[in-house]
Amino acid sequence: MTHAGSAADQAGTEEQRPSAATPPSQLVTEASHAAALDAADSLGDFRQRFVVRDPRLVYLDGNSLGRLPRATVERLREVVDDEWGGQLVRGWDHWLDAPLRVADGLAPLIGAGPGEVVVADSTTVNFYKLAWAALGARTGRRAIVTDRDNFPTNRYVLEGLAEQRSAEIRWLDGDPIDGPQPADVAALLDANVALVTFSLVNYRSAALADLAAITALAHDAGALVLWDLSHAAGAVAVDLEGGDADLAVGCTYKYLNGGPGAPAFLYVRRALQAGLRNPIQGWFAQRDQFAMGHGFRAVGGIGAWLTGTPGILALAAVDEGAALTAEAGMDAVRAKSVALTEYAIALHDAWLAPLGFTLGTPREAARRGSHVAVRHRDARRLCARLIARGVIPDFREPDSIRLGLSPLTTSFGDVRTGIAALRELAAE
Ligand SMILES: Cc1ncc(COP(=O)(O)O)c(C=O)c1O
Repeated sequence: MTHAGSAADQAGTEEQRPSAATPPSQLVTEASHAAALDAADSLGDFRQRFVVRDPRLVYLDGNSLGRLPRATVERLREVVDDEWGGQLVRGWDHWLDAPLRVADGLAPLIGAGPGEVVVADSTTVNFYKLAWAALGARTGRRAIVTDRDNFPTNRYVLEGLAEQRSAEIRWLDGDPIDGPQPADVAALLDANVALVTFSLVNYRSAALADLAAITALAHDAGALVLWDLSHAAGAVAVDLEGGDADLAVGCTYKYLNGGPGAPAFLYVRRALQAGLRNPIQGWFAQRDQFAMGHGFRAVGGIGAWLTGTPGILALAAVDEGAALTAEAGMDAVRAKSVALTEYAIALHDAWLAPLGFTLGTPREAARRGSHVAVRHRDARRLCARLIARGVIPDFREPDSIRLGLSPLTTSFGDVRTGIAALRELAAE
């Protein structure tokens, strides 16, 4: 299994990777080059497994909301008609363990084992649960280390926790493109740090942090580490177990194609499960739940991180989305992601840089996730005009257009059409 942050592993093998650097046609900007890359793409057929209502729409925002798998449409119809409609409350006989069952299917995609993941609640709620638990497990320590460029919900949760638990946040001011580096993290660590937490892939620049190195540094200082994998799951071959990660959360509605607002995943390394406590003592984590007894006694294992009644329709959608990525295989997914981002960067350099754009994403493939940020002083207006033309990326403050490249659904032709449209608009 691969280590997040390890260059050779994350880039995929040479055989697997359609390469933008060694073009089959002479010029990277030619349409024939995109066509050749698409023809050589071993994952190209996966696009047909998704609903594509408007084939002319160029969708470059799968890092916000992944496309709808066709299998999900069928599966939801079954769950609605047969299970909800037919079985009614009897469905709970097999729905009860859905959060653990769906999680065991997803676990290998993030390098976790069975019984180490649940799928439930939102990423924000899960992040709160695990950050709270980490502070509780390191009594006497009062500091949290994170970066100022972390995703807003994580920063807000930590600020609230710091207030509630009289903790101090040590903010890392990392490079806005390269993200938090191990040496910068080391400088903030000492015996007062309880929790270190970063996003594995930065939501704006796509910087990919070195999971194994940062985790090892935090462990040397006696702290626990909580990773947010929202922009990594389904795009980067994450290895939580191999990287000795303690805790992780992440969205399923991005590259895992679980649907809008789909429940998030939460990971706790098996060896830590007995020693950490979920701050929300809900009945779905209660031993002998339907005895309805007095006094909370948590079940053993990862089920202790459940809270209330899970959304069964949403879980079925996550199951289908994750199964598609599992079928494609994370090594092939990562290889395609690298090829897509390399191609987008090559087109940025050829077409956009002369028009005043700069690259907002690391150039080294092993240091980035699956989107490419291009920066321009007029980015907000250009992004709105692109969307009006049927090319859908998104804008992130202050000056980035994010081109989200989903390995299962984005074609090299999409990348070329989208960046050509941006070039045309910027040139006007
Ligand atoms: C890194 C990261 N964490 C968390 C979230 C969102 O969390 P939630 O699903 O709780 O809104 C996002 C959403 O884009 C994200 O990018």
